[in-house]
Amino acid sequence: MNLYGIVVAAGRGERFGVPKAGLVVQGLSLWQWAVAALEAAGAAGVIVVGEVPGGIPGGARRRDSVAAGMAALPPDATHVLIHDAARPLATPALATAVIVRLAVGDVDGVVPALPLGDTIKRVEGERVVETIQRTGLVAVQTPQGFRLEALRAAHAADADDATDDAQLVERHGGSVVYVPGESTNLKITYPEDLALAEALAP
Ligand code: CTP
Ligand code: MG
Repeated sequence: MNLYGIVVAAGRGERFGVPKAGLVVQGLSLWQWAVAALEAAGAAGVIVVGEVPGGIPGGARRRDSVAAGMAALPPDATHVLIHDAARPLATPALATAVIVRLAVGDVDGVVPALPLGDTIKRVEGERVVETIQRTGLVAVQTPQGFRLEALRAAHAADADDATDDAQLVERHGGSVVYVPGESTNLKITYPEDLALAEALAP
């Protein structure tokens, strides 16, 4: 297993109000937190995609930024962890758990996920139209680990957008499993998330 990391740190941060990768939590930029977690878990190298020091240019959609990162991987890479810069609090232990499951060798992808805490409803405008059975639903995080060949094939097979990489692998018929995520591994999406991350950071 020759495992590398890709931290996606491009994007416009429309919901936050500004691009997020350079935001600082306890003295470190979000993208630096993300890189540190993958390095501490043993990634042989980490490629950062986005307008940060040492980063390579991203794409219009998240999946395009991932593709840019994959294109920059060294030829000896066999496995990859894809991680959002917007998740600074994912721990090295979580990345390690993903790697350990991936190393078993029987699946194409591994994602961290947690059961949903809230009741989930479908709405149309202000009207609640349905309560979704929560059983069997999980919320998915990053870092996500893949056999590089499987991720490359999934990207090549389909040009539609996806909010994570596992979705592309699933659509291509690949096998994806989950390991327990971390409740502190929040994603910085809205401005108020930053204060929460500041409070939760180790
Ligand atoms: N990302 C990326 N390239 C894009 C879009 C997103 O590298 N074209 C990265 C972001 O930097 C982030 C992760 O993918 O680390 C998750 O994306 P998201 O939180 O949606 O960030 P933005 O797309 O920037 O925010 P928004 O959707 O609110 O515009
Ligand atoms: Mg986005």
